[in-house]
Amino acid sequence: MDDITQNLESVEKSTDIGMGRGVYISTYGCQMNVNDTERMYALLEMQNFVPVRDPKEASLIIINSCSVREKPVHKVYSEVGTYKYMKRRNPDLKIGVGGCVGQQEKENLIKTQPMIDFVFGTDQIDNLPQLVAQSFAGERKLVNSRFQHRTPYHIETLVRNPGVATYVNITKGCDNFCTFCVVPYTRGREKSRPVQHILTDIRHLVKRGVKEVTLLGQNVNSYKGDEGVDFADLLALVAKETDVERIRYTTSHPKDFNQKLVDVMSEHSNKIMEYIHLPFQAGSTKVLERMNRNYTREEYLERIAMIKKGLPDVCFSTDIIVGFPGETEEDFQDTLNMVTEVGFETIFAFAYSPRPFTKAAKFEDQVAEGVKNERLNRLFDVHEAMAFEAVKRYEGTTMKVLVENVDRDHGKIQGRSTGNKLVHFLGTADLIGKTVDVKITKAFPAVFRGELV
Ligand code: SAH
Ligand code: SF4
Ligand code: F3S
Repeated sequence: MDDITQNLESVEKSTDIGMGRGVYISTYGCQMNVNDTERMYALLEMQNFVPVRDPKEASLIIINSCSVREKPVHKVYSEVGTYKYMKRRNPDLKIGVGGCVGQQEKENLIKTQPMIDFVFGTDQIDNLPQLVAQSFAGERKLVNSRFQHRTPYHIETLVRNPGVATYVNITKGCDNFCTFCVVPYTRGREKSRPVQHILTDIRHLVKRGVKEVTLLGQNVNSYKGDEGVDFADLLALVAKETDVERIRYTTSHPKDFNQKLVDVMSEHSNKIMEYIHLPFQAGSTKVLERMNRNYTREEYLERIAMIKKGLPDVCFSTDIIVGFPGETEEDFQDTLNMVTEVGFETIFAFAYSPRPFTKAAKFEDQVAEGVKNERLNRLFDVHEAMAFEAVKRYEGTTMKVLVENVDRDHGKIQGRSTGNKLVHFLGTADLIGKTVDVKITKAFPAVFRGELV
């Protein structure tokens, strides 16, 4: 592969790489990737590419991939396969792969699937226009997947239409190395943005009409800003020094969740929403230890009790993995009763999937696929039965809902409650961006129906 080049600096910056060509980006994975896609579109628009909704109209297709679970490489190849006839019809069409699979697989992707013109890593998004320019200039099989280990994390949020609620990265990467997780390998070392950059960013977004920001990172509570500012301090600063109406954050790690954070949330409860996504992953301390999560079952439950004490109306959601290597039926029961004991109304649960580079992939006591899937189904059944009952307590109550958009299919509008519930109700588009009182008439675990008070 001698024609793989990493010499991107040689390409001169141009302002018209796109020449009006269409660009289509398909996005997999977490909110980081959704934000990265926005950034790619914004950078490419500056170079005169035009975002299109249909890949058939594109001369540039980018797959922003995720490798956190099952067959990610296979998904990339099968999507590329669907573009075969388009590439035949339009020899000018370029196909690139970015995101976590790009970072993980690098040139392997091009070796296996020659239809891929270029691959770039998660730290190379800001160099995407140059890479694309090289590709359109006829250079083939380009790969740029270097991590920018020494460069500080100085970016400005780039979103084309931020809407009412938007995400703002505060950290990138992860240093926790949970033994099941590929993210530390695909996103590199953890870095925090400087405090003032984040505040300025949020002020700009507010000027563009944003009412709610979600501060984003793999583990936001380990945020380390300049001048000793920690995550709780940052939240307080965003609440005090910007005009944003609502603040959320995700994801927080139980090991780093402290009383100070609860106090800040309580003190600024008019702005910081009482909703916390706090993944517990497994209910058994033995499994948690092998996952390298750095908390026990009891410690997790103590954190929940501490948070509930300071924030009595808080809503929790969580992530769970079933069938981690060595998980016995008894361990799994501990996961089931954790769900009912805490009373999670929303869960995101997954069957364990061995990931490259990770320690747990080499553990010898892997659980059979059939057992994993059977446990996952049982978990969903137990959760559903509990959650359907639990949310009934909201029926008849009134919630403050920030209206986000019109739900065109149903002639309704939709928004989020303070506790992050999706609420549908009859109303007009002029309410978008306003916070209104909505009385809940019907509550399901994932979505509520209501009427304007
Ligand atoms: N930074 C977040 C998680 C990011 S990955 C945190 O620490 O909570 C999102 C979720 O995917 C994880 O919480 C976990 O539940 C799930 N996940 C990660 N790796 C997985 C794997 N190998 N198999 C199955 N699920 C996994
Ligand atoms: Fe993965 Fe753990 Fe980091 Fe979350 S905290 S991204 S699960 S290594
Ligand atoms: Fe996100 Fe998937 Fe990467 S969950 S961090 S896009 S592996």
